[in-house]
Amino acid sequence: MQIAIDGPAGSGKTSVARALAKRFGCLLVNTGAMYRAVALGLFQGLNFSEISIEVRPDERILLNGQDVTEQLYTPQMDELASQVAARPEVREFLIAQQRALARDRDVVMEGRDIGSVVLPNADVKLYLDASVEERARRRCRERPHQPYADVLAQMRARDARDGVGFGRLQITPETIVIRTEGRTLEDVIAEAVRAVESALQKRGASGKLSE
Ligand code: DC
Repeated sequence: MQIAIDGPAGSGKTSVARALAKRFGCLLVNTGAMYRAVALGLFQGLNFSEISIEVRPDERILLNGQDVTEQLYTPQMDELASQVAARPEVREFLIAQQRALARDRDVVMEGRDIGSVVLPNADVKLYLDASVEERARRRCRERPHQPYADVLAQMRARDARDGVGFGRLQITPETIVIRTEGRTLEDVIAEAVRAVESALQKRGASGKLSE
């Protein structure tokens, strides 16, 4: 089973993806973390050809064998990852790895281009969305030392860049859009679980998942 979750920064993808992975017994693949790890490697002075990334079932990310998970979520890595993700060779490298992770395995994969590019045949495609102001408020709660105005400006800049090209943030016709504005996480997760269960029932009836 493949569950694809896309949406802009701060839309709640990771929390929802984590809950779905637990509920349906899938490997969770956070593709944003993979772009961040490549950005960190380049920042550390590695050549792109020297970089290898490993995604662990416990969500830890290894860069050339070293656990770098704690270093990936800083304003600097937000910025660098967004730039690095616009390099076609980086996308090609990571998309191949993401597809390999989803082969012969149940996955919940979250990112920007999962339903549109990485796993176009995913069993369920979800798109989480909220206004940029709401997403900036959430990011501020995660990183309280940053002023709201700065976070909002960065979020707008990232939206403009992360949504451009490579099939990113494209809502395909079969995608279920979940608006998360003003809702509790529990409520959003409950809707996502219902969407997956209903898709599984339909697919089950058509035989696709019983292969
Ligand atoms: O989801 P995130 O903020 O951790 O992602 C980090 C960056 O990587 C973000 O700027 C968008 C980019 N990204 C992407 O282009 N495609 C993906 N599938 C996942 C992330």
